Amino acid sequence: MAKPILLVTRRLPPAIEALAAKEYEARLTPSELVMPDLLAQAQGADAILCCPGDKLDAATIAALPASVKVIGTFSVGYDHIDVAAAKARGIKVCNTPDVLSVATAECAMLLLMMAARRAGEGERLVRSGKWSGWAPTQLLGTQVSGRRLGIFGMGRIGRELARMARGFGMEIHYRDMARLPPELEQGATFHDNDEGFLAICQTLSLNAPGGDGTRHWLDAERIARLPPGAVVVNAARGSLIDDAALIAALRSGHVAAAGLDVYNNEPALHPDYLTLENVVLLPHLGSATVETRDAMGRIVLSGIGSILAGETPKNLVS
Ligand code: DGY
Repeated sequence: MAKPILLVTRRLPPAIEALAAKEYEARLTPSELVMPDLLAQAQGADAILCCPGDKLDAATIAALPASVKVIGTFSVGYDHIDVAAAKARGIKVCNTPDVLSVATAECAMLLLMMAARRAGEGERLVRSGKWSGWAPTQLLGTQVSGRRLGIFGMGRIGRELARMARGFGMEIHYRDMARLPPELEQGATFHDNDEGFLAICQTLSLNAPGGDGTRHWLDAERIARLPPGAVVVNAARGSLIDDAALIAALRSGHVAAAGLDVYNNEPALHPDYLTLENVVLLPHLGSATVETRDAMGRIVLSGIGSILAGETPKNLVS
């Protein structure tokens, strides 16, 4: 029996490309970059394996050939896919939940530590060759241990971050649409409104999904509600932040430091971030470990295969 045709829009880890080639007639690409001719490449394909940054908006989905039955994304986030437009065309969407929660939470913790302890500035100082040696007042940061951490979005990644932060003796607070059951809450304090939540956030981590519901959630008004000197990190989606507002707060010192792994309009981040010493900037590394990326590849390929076989996989989005 002929294997289904799978269009893969980006280069994937070698083990995953090998698996794709075994299970599908895989159209692989050597390129790390967004595929410029995705519609042409998708002709005759049964499924597309895409990545964050591949814009599968309503117009692109409307123009896909009728052969395409599944879009699998090599990510847990699917805000780059117009899921409603896919549904309207009878195209199923699946993603990579669970397997990247630990790696992404590690990245949020890394950003928190780096921002609070001024690690980016310290590294730049050493590399500049201008470091003159230890000094009692040099690059003094903020201890995270024992401080309050507010988690906006207490899903799988938020809960992993809470688990890690408890190891630092942090007091966990969270804001979400509904309170979690006690076994998931693990003693964290739920806030049912932004005002009360933001007021306690000595440190704030954004862990909510992107999309219209959370666009620019962290705006000037909400930033003003943070305690002076708060530390803000984002390893979720750039769209959660109003960049102009955060940049103004970093300049004034109301936000002492920020750590960002994700940006509006990636990779063209707001240029003013590059001028600020008190922001740590990573290139969307959240899930970037060998084991996690392999696990992401396996789960998305398995989801695509199940859907093509008429089954409903656990990682079905819609
Ligand atoms: C995701 O999975 O949504 C990340 O942003 C990429 O790993």
